[in-house]
Amino acid sequence: MLRLVKPTYKYRKSFLAALEEFKDVPAGIFDGDLARTNFKAYLTRVKNYETGTNLSKGLVPASTFWLIDGNEFIGGVSFRHRLNKKLKEYGGHIGYSIRPSKRKKGYGTKMLALTLKRIKKDFALNKVMVSCDNDNAGSQKIIQANGGVLQDVINTKYNPHNKPLMRWWINL
Ligand SMILES: CC(C)(COP(=O)(O)OP(=O)(O)OC[C@H]1O[C@@H](n2cnc3c(N)ncnc32)[C@H](O)[C@@H]1OP(=O)(O)O)[C@@H](O)C(=O)NCCC(=O)NCCS
Repeated sequence: MLRLVKPTYKYRKSFLAALEEFKDVPAGIFDGDLARTNFKAYLTRVKNYETGTNLSKGLVPASTFWLIDGNEFIGGVSFRHRLNKKLKEYGGHIGYSIRPSKRKKGYGTKMLALTLKRIKKDFALNKVMVSCDNDNAGSQKIIQANGGVLQDVINTKYNPHNKPLMRWWINL
């Protein structure tokens, strides 16, 4: 069964195997180096991030979810609880990534759907912002399949890929 869970020891092995697949691509939201070397500290960091404990300047509280199929780690989501000036311009509420070996199988679309459901249930938000590069065809399709409405396409100094950025809103 496909489900979203908070990071846990239970799927540690599968998560670490997924990190290996990211060797040649940035692991981004997975905080891979710490998870590899000290999984307990990684879990503590994830928890602190969610409760807003000891956050570095410029960060807002964020929840991490893992998409699990059976007992296998498929992908991860970071849900920022609110937007600050930077997130309004780049990043929005939700960032996600599917492990490379599991892409183009529909998981990304389902992971965002499950995330939106979870946010609607647990948080007092009625809409969320998501952003993606204007050449990220997969992410655009995922957002549109989940009801995304394009706000605009901007150039922003915050986009590390130095590409035009699409900003979308999804009503919950
Ligand atoms: C973008 C990403 C999440 C897509 O995940 P995924 O599990 O492959 O997505 P899906 O299988 O649900 O695909 C959704 C649609 O996009 C298409 N698609 C997926 N990747 C694609 C690609 N690289 N190029 C073109 N189309 C693509 C799929 O064919 C599918 O099309 P369909 O609805 O017409 O059948 C994944 O490639 C990824 O993790 N990329 C790196 C991180 C990233 O870009 N995150 C998003 C920015 S916040």
